[in-house]
Amino acid sequence: MADKGLREVVAAETKISDIDGQQGALSYVGYDIADLAEHATFEEVVHLLHHLELPKANELRDLKRFLSSSRELHPFQIELMRTLAEQTSPMSMLRTSISASSAFDPDGWDESPEAQLRKAKRLVAQTGTLIATYHRLRTGQQIVRPDPSLNHAQDVLWMLHGTDPSDEDARVLDTTLVLYADHTMNASTFTARIVASTLADMFSAITAAIGTLKGPLHGGANEESMKSFEEVGKPANAEAYVRARLERHEKIFGFGHAVYKTYDPRARVLKDLARGSADRAGKLELYEIAEAIEETTFEQKGLYPNVDFYAAVVFHVLGVPTDLMTPMFAAARMAGWTAHVREQYADNRVIRPGSRYVGPEPRAWEPVERR
Ligand SMILES: CC(C)(COP(=O)(O)OP(=O)(O)OC[C@H]1O[C@@H](n2cnc3c(N)ncnc32)[C@H](O)[C@@H]1OP(=O)(O)O)[C@@H](O)C(=O)NCCC(=O)NCCS
Repeated sequence: MADKGLREVVAAETKISDIDGQQGALSYVGYDIADLAEHATFEEVVHLLHHLELPKANELRDLKRFLSSSRELHPFQIELMRTLAEQTSPMSMLRTSISASSAFDPDGWDESPEAQLRKAKRLVAQTGTLIATYHRLRTGQQIVRPDPSLNHAQDVLWMLHGTDPSDEDARVLDTTLVLYADHTMNASTFTARIVASTLADMFSAITAAIGTLKGPLHGGANEESMKSFEEVGKPANAEAYVRARLERHEKIFGFGHAVYKTYDPRARVLKDLARGSADRAGKLELYEIAEAIEETTFEQKGLYPNVDFYAAVVFHVLGVPTDLMTPMFAAARMAGWTAHVREQYADNRVIRPGSRYVGPEPRAWEPVERR
C-alpha cells in the first residue's frame, strides 16, 4: 500500500525533466534549470521539452514562426470569451477555453504523432492570448491582437497591456516561463498523463491538467502568496502574520514542497528576479515583505519558499493581476504538459492503480421496507 500522496511511487519513465529533492536540483533533458534560466528563451525550452535537444538555428526559426502564426484566436474563441469574461473566474475560463479550442484546431481529430505535435505547439502559442483577451474584455478594453514580430514573452505582455514591453520586463517574463515550463510528475502533469493513457485526445488531457493546477496546494499558491503580501502590508508586520497563521495551523502559501526538502532552485532564480524587477519598478517594499515572510517562516517552521512565492512578486511587478498569476503558470506549463502527453502516447499503458477496500464486510441485500 503506497502512502496516501503516492510520494514514493514512480509512475512513469521520462526523459523530459528530473528533480533531486535533497540537493534542490532540477533539470530539463539534462540541462540544469539555473543554466536554462540564464541562457534559454521560452521558445528554446519548448523545443527542448518536445524534441529532447536544444534547437538548431533553423529549427528555432521554424518554431518561432509556427508559434507566432498560431497565437491568433479563432473568431469563435473570441465570441465564447465575451461570455466567459463576464461570468467566469480566470482558471475556469482557461479550462473551458482550452476545451473549446479542440473544436477549432486545424488538425481536427487527426491523432497522428505529427498532428499531436502541432496541437501541442498551438496550445503553447494560444494560452497567453486567451489570458490576455479575457483580461481586456473583462476590463472593458479593446482586444490587442498578437504581433507576429514579437517573441512569445513580449507578445504576451503586449496583448495584456497594449503597450510595448521594456526589454527587461520581456526578459523577466521569458525567464519566468522557462522556470515554470516543466516539473516532472507533479499533480497536474500526472493528471494529463492519466487522461492520455486512456488514449483520449490532447485537449482532454490538458483540460484536466488545468483543473488540477487550479487548487491552492498546486498552481493556485502564487495568487495566495500575493494576497498574503497585501495582507501583511509592510515588512514589519511579516513576523506577526506568519506566527499567527502557524499558531492557527494554517499554511503559509508559497512554502514547502512535496519533493524539495531544501531551497527550490526555481525560487532562488525568482528571488533575484523579484528583487531586481521590484527595485526597477520602485516597488522594493513588496520584495521586502516577501523576504521578511521568508525569514520568519524559515525560523519558525524550517520551510523554504517554492516557485510560486517570488513568482507572485515578479508577476505583480510585470502588471499581471493577482487572479491571472495561476493562468500564467498554466501558459508556461503548457510546454511541459503537452510534452508529457506526447511521451505517454509514445509508450503507453493505461494508468490504473489499485485501492485497498476498507468498507463493510460482505452483507445480504435488504428490501427497502426492512432497512
Ligand atoms: C506543497 C505542499 C502541498 C506539500 O505538501 P506535503 O508534501 O504533503 O508536505 P506536508 O504537508 O507533509 O508537510 C510536512 C509538514 O510541514 C507543514 N507544512 C508544509 N507546508 C507548509 C506551509 N506552506 N505552511 C505551513 N506548514 C507547512 C505541514 O503542515 C506538515 O507539518 P506537520 O508535520 O506538523 O503536520 C505543502 O507544503 C503546502 O501545502 N504548501 C503550501 C501551498 C503551496 O505553496 N503549494 C505550491 C507547491 S509548488
